[in-house]
Amino acid sequence: MSIRDDFPILKREVNGFPLIYLDNAATTQKPQIVLDAMNEYYTSSNANVHRAVHTLAGEATEGYEKCRHQLKEWFNAERVVLTSGTTEAINLVAHSWGRANLSAGDVIVLTEMEHHSDIVPWQMLAEERNVELRYVPVLEDFTLDMEVYAASLEGAKLVCVVHTSNVLGVRNPLEQIIQMAHDNDALVLVDAAQGVPHERIDFQDFGADFMAFSAHKMCGPTGIGALLIEPEVFEKMQPFMGGGDMIETVTVEGSTYQTDEHKFEAGTPKIAEAVGWSAALEWMSKLDLKKEHQRLIKIARWVAEQLRSMGMSVYGRHEEGDSAVVSFLHPKIHSEDLAHLFDSRGFAVRTGHHCAQPLLHRLGISGTVRASFYLYNTMDEAQLFIEQLKEITERFG
Ligand SMILES: Cc1ncc(COP(=O)(O)O)c(C=O)c1O
Repeated sequence: MSIRDDFPILKREVNGFPLIYLDNAATTQKPQIVLDAMNEYYTSSNANVHRAVHTLAGEATEGYEKCRHQLKEWFNAERVVLTSGTTEAINLVAHSWGRANLSAGDVIVLTEMEHHSDIVPWQMLAEERNVELRYVPVLEDFTLDMEVYAASLEGAKLVCVVHTSNVLGVRNPLEQIIQMAHDNDALVLVDAAQGVPHERIDFQDFGADFMAFSAHKMCGPTGIGALLIEPEVFEKMQPFMGGGDMIETVTVEGSTYQTDEHKFEAGTPKIAEAVGWSAALEWMSKLDLKKEHQRLIKIARWVAEQLRSMGMSVYGRHEEGDSAVVSFLHPKIHSEDLAHLFDSRGFAVRTGHHCAQPLLHRLGISGTVRASFYLYNTMDEAQLFIEQLKEITERFG
């Protein structure tokens, strides 16, 4: 059995051609085990969590909490808040930590490489609280300007940095970034949406204070993600969303809150999604992620070399540790047209600004075509992709 056999969607055809799915940085496909787990949950255990003594409620609660437990083990993390994804996780920090700890004149350091979900929540907060945002520039070689970063840390309370760029695939020097921030008494939030699918991270070793990521980029369902929080920081954070499940007591005079992760999980949570994510983690734990990652970065590097030799502009380095994302532009064919031509031949690639407009602005472009590879992609598919591009270029370029 190959990895591919576990993914039923890979057997489908698109426009009369076998699907070649190269949009994994946007979302990954789901193995059968995830589909089965969610189906089984709704078929035989569906109930609400935490609130009832009946058998189904017990099973639902167990399924939901099992996901948290697995994430704690996977990341060696003590506090795991289940959110709807990376975006909600970052917004949670902006509300619960940011609004309690930042005031006029305080500084947040961001980078030009951030996804919009790690920019906009901070811009909203900056406007509300008169907080200063400093952006670390991206250099010609697609890395962060670490000299500017060092200088930006003066007076900073928080550093927000993307683990791996969703446009460039570049993995940032996080260990150094975290150390430098802590030496300056700033906390660090890592947007690991693109890092976690490719790299097994030990959160305690890593040393970040917050880490946000989404299940759907690592073979899990959409609609669920997590925020890991350093325990001392966690203790001091107050909830930002009120409602059922996050309280200890409620009277007409006021309420007290839960003290564990539930204080951040108001309302009915993502139960089936948690069950699905558990199954995805179980599936992934059987793989040698490091070996797979090395295989994928080799594919991405080969694709990038081929593209350069065909006269394309390629954005990224494709070094060891980077993710298997190849962003490029054709010298003559518009990226949207190119994506349509690919789609008509069964290839799924992404175009546009990839929710990273400040980065594209720095690169002097408005969008790219992005091919991103994941566990079920093969060198054969990469070769077909390049062959297809050659054919398209001969006909239309
Ligand atoms: C680097 C990065 N951060 C954040 C996000 C947002 O993730 P989600 O939409 O799952 O909240 C993405 C999704 O593309 C991403 O690539």
